[in-house]
Amino acid sequence: MSAPNKSYDPVEVEALKPEEIERMRDEALAAIAGAADLDALAHVKTAHSGGTSPLALANREIGALPPHAKAEAGKRVGQARGAVNQALAARQAELEADRDARVLIEEAVDVTLPYDRVPAGARHPLTTLSERIEDVFVAMGYEVAEGPEVEAEWFNFDALNFPPDHPARETQDTFFVQGADGADQSGVVLRTHTSPVQIRALLERELPVYVIAPGRVYRSDELDATHTPVFAQVELLAVDEGLTMADLKGTLDHMVVSLFGEGMKTRLRPNHFPFTEPSAEMDMVCYVCRGESVGNPDRPCRTCSSEGWIELGGCGMVNPKVLIACGVDPQKYSGFAFGFGIERLLMFRHSVEDMRDIVEGDVRFTLPFGMEI
Ligand code: PHE
Repeated sequence: MSAPNKSYDPVEVEALKPEEIERMRDEALAAIAGAADLDALAHVKTAHSGGTSPLALANREIGALPPHAKAEAGKRVGQARGAVNQALAARQAELEADRDARVLIEEAVDVTLPYDRVPAGARHPLTTLSERIEDVFVAMGYEVAEGPEVEAEWFNFDALNFPPDHPARETQDTFFVQGADGADQSGVVLRTHTSPVQIRALLERELPVYVIAPGRVYRSDELDATHTPVFAQVELLAVDEGLTMADLKGTLDHMVVSLFGEGMKTRLRPNHFPFTEPSAEMDMVCYVCRGESVGNPDRPCRTCSSEGWIELGGCGMVNPKVLIACGVDPQKYSGFAFGFGIERLLMFRHSVEDMRDIVEGDVRFTLPFGMEI
């Protein structure tokens, strides 16, 4: 700092005396050094470098000096203000770095700590797929129908034209419910398919009947990669005047297009079910290779084993005996039905290789299917 200028005009301005400027600067520097945090520094900044700070006020006094003294005083004040501003910036940077380091420590999250929130689950893909199928039919005017899982043998077999000695009635296929007295022949079974809902729908509703019935069914199978004793089926029943096999075929084609996309179609192969006549096995075009793997060893298809078709379920025209059992006149009405397992469809649609994954209900399996609503 320069010594007092002897050529000063006698009108020496008190605030511009070198030792005064030095004092203001040192006071400011001490306050800056003493600011313990960013808030305190903000106050120091206003007090020592703001518009009403001593150095700013001193700066204003320069105007009152005679011309020859202005440069000297201006330099002195300018240097002092520069030193203060530099110290402010340095302290600001220092305090910000301190704060950032502290935040990192204080706000650190220990990801290894146990959490107390119940993790969100997921809807089971069987449910979402089944609802999707329902939607396809509800859009065509069908109603969703339900029936009990613990079912009278009459609904599950007799009304569906299963003869009394039909092998499906054997215990190796069917779970029989014991009577209260311990008797085996209680006449009650765990339904082996959703077809008894056909009977219930025809008995409960006015004609015409268009229903879709999703539900759980039971068969005495061991759980393995391709079998499960409890599985899901969807049953379809349409009874109206003038329905033919062509209506059944058109409905099936519409369903596979809705579920798997344009260009999908179905084919029917003769089969036998007691409750439909004629009966058919229904296949759909393999949605992966679209039939192009057939006879094409260069493009084998794992999904359909290069057969071009995937078997989906059973169908047929409702047997007139079933209509009669439900009090429907087969001369006037005809109908079609089909039923298929959802697990198989899910396995094809999403390349699930082991049925046990579907059954076990592990959320790690269900989550990746997302929240299809
Ligand atoms: N209920 C039959 C089954 O479980 C499927 C089916 C339903 C067949 C409707 C024809 C008509 O295998």
